[in-house]
Amino acid sequence: MRRDLESILLTEEQIRQRVRELGEAITRDYRGKAPLFVGVLKGSFVFMSDLVRHVDLPCSVDFMAVSSYGNSTKTTGAVKINKDLSQDIEGKDVIVVEDILDSGVTLNYLSKYLLNRNPASLCIATLLDKPSRRLSPVHAAYSGFEIPDSFVVVYGLDYAEKYRNLPYIAILKPEIYSNA
Ligand code: IMP
Ligand code: MG
Repeated sequence: MRRDLESILLTEEQIRQRVRELGEAITRDYRGKAPLFVGVLKGSFVFMSDLVRHVDLPCSVDFMAVSSYGNSTKTTGAVKINKDLSQDIEGKDVIVVEDILDSGVTLNYLSKYLLNRNPASLCIATLLDKPSRRLSPVHAAYSGFEIPDSFVVVYGLDYAEKYRNLPYIAILKPEIYSNA
């Protein structure tokens, strides 16, 4: 799979340090609370597991699965919920954890969907943000890195369900998806 990767955008060390900073910021900001981390499957699974290891608070985790992409690299605009939460979030401090904020369509839809269930608070933590691609207004309270408009994979992020393993963030060679 390494030969499908064009270059490394963020190294393992850069990610490790930034994820620790985000975890420490959440620990400070939620002092006295017990947040519920809601990971958006599947892309967030690596980031979320690293993030919560740096959160020194009583907290819990849950997951949702949504799809908006099929196997292409651009959003279809439609968001489908494939797996819902396994608990009531009314009165809870919810932190939605995403791998990447791109058009914002997914998180805009998901935020409204979750706010309807009356959490005490709701915010977004994303590892990566591509602000130049935003179509729906979404703000991430915790954002790891702003990146340019390239399609990236690895550390949880996929192309057509591949490349989620390995510990850095890489740019996928455009010929891999331009032939799809
Ligand atoms: P949005 O609804 O356009 O913000 O899309 C967010 C979702 O698109 C993310 O959770 C990813 O699954 C996917 N996505 C967007 N950009 C990339 C990328 O560069 N690499 C891998 N997945 C991406
Ligand atoms: Mg995703």
